[in-house]
Amino acid sequence: MTAPEDFRALPKVELHLHLEGAAPPAFIRGLAAEKSVDLSRIFDVRGGYAFRDFKHFLQVYEAACTVLQTPEDFRRLTRAVLEQSAEQGVIHTEAFLSPDFCGGGDLAAWREYLAAITEAAADARKTNGITMRAIVTCIRHFGPEKARATAHCAAETAGDFITGFGIAGDEGAGAPRDFAWAFDCAREAGLGLTAHAGEWGGPESVRAALDDLRVTRIGHGVRAIEDRNLVERLAESGTVLEVCPGSNLALGLYADWAAHPVAKLRAAGVKVTLSTDDPPFFHTTLSGEYAALARAHGWEEADFRALNRTAAEAAFADAATRADILTRLEPAI
Ligand code: ADE
Ligand code: ZN
Repeated sequence: MTAPEDFRALPKVELHLHLEGAAPPAFIRGLAAEKSVDLSRIFDVRGGYAFRDFKHFLQVYEAACTVLQTPEDFRRLTRAVLEQSAEQGVIHTEAFLSPDFCGGGDLAAWREYLAAITEAAADARKTNGITMRAIVTCIRHFGPEKARATAHCAAETAGDFITGFGIAGDEGAGAPRDFAWAFDCAREAGLGLTAHAGEWGGPESVRAALDDLRVTRIGHGVRAIEDRNLVERLAESGTVLEVCPGSNLALGLYADWAAHPVAKLRAAGVKVTLSTDDPPFFHTTLSGEYAALARAHGWEEADFRALNRTAAEAAFADAATRADILTRLEPAI
């Protein structure tokens, strides 16, 4: 089993997916045409997203977001993304949502966007059998003030659908402690916490996320492998890594699948899970990731089932939701 189709039917839980980053290029091009916005510079000759490096990726990403202008646009986006995920066998997904792209951090506007997204998720549950929860996400390079407004939006709308809070964006901008207020606010509202770290920053960035933001999950975290003590700490504390190997390869962090540290982290007892991050940007799919890991490390269906159980156990979900996810993950034999 080493081809993407071999894994498509396997039920999956995805914990790390940026809703805007999952927008198919044709979807963004369609919105750009409807709104007469010229976005030709962000596409390559084949119609895919074009970027040179991580900083440029963030610019292209934000340019694509400029055509996501209304709650209705986000309703359509959510439907398109969940359909795409369901085709990959995903039965439960946690998507990052940024109020910065949904009304600019204004709470009343955010509520309107959220209502449309929640309705689209309910439709997808009925039509495609996939469930979704959302992680409200601040953008590190937008700064701590914006992050406060984002945390306020998250805290005010925390509940059945908004179950987590996180931080994405340029890991080189500021330090995790600059965002401690936002994370404290989200924690007090009962939200699960995750932070992008150890992607572009080294082991010290993972330590800072653990110490200053007190997260239980780390987005990426793969560069923890450079520090044996940190790997031990992650394993002992049960911190969950949302590993996105295809993203790391596409952005040039590692040369190839064999060089990616996910297998070493797993072997060291760290709880790893598998996700796609921004799949159309990185020309990946979740089934494609499984197939590549099967080829590189000899992982088999039982390995992927175990990784998906870890993801279900780490989902930011209440007990009833988790039980439902686990039931759908492991149909009766
Ligand atoms: N936003 C979307 N994808 C991201 C990534 N891989 N790292 C940081 N921020 C992001
Ligand atoms: Zn990410």
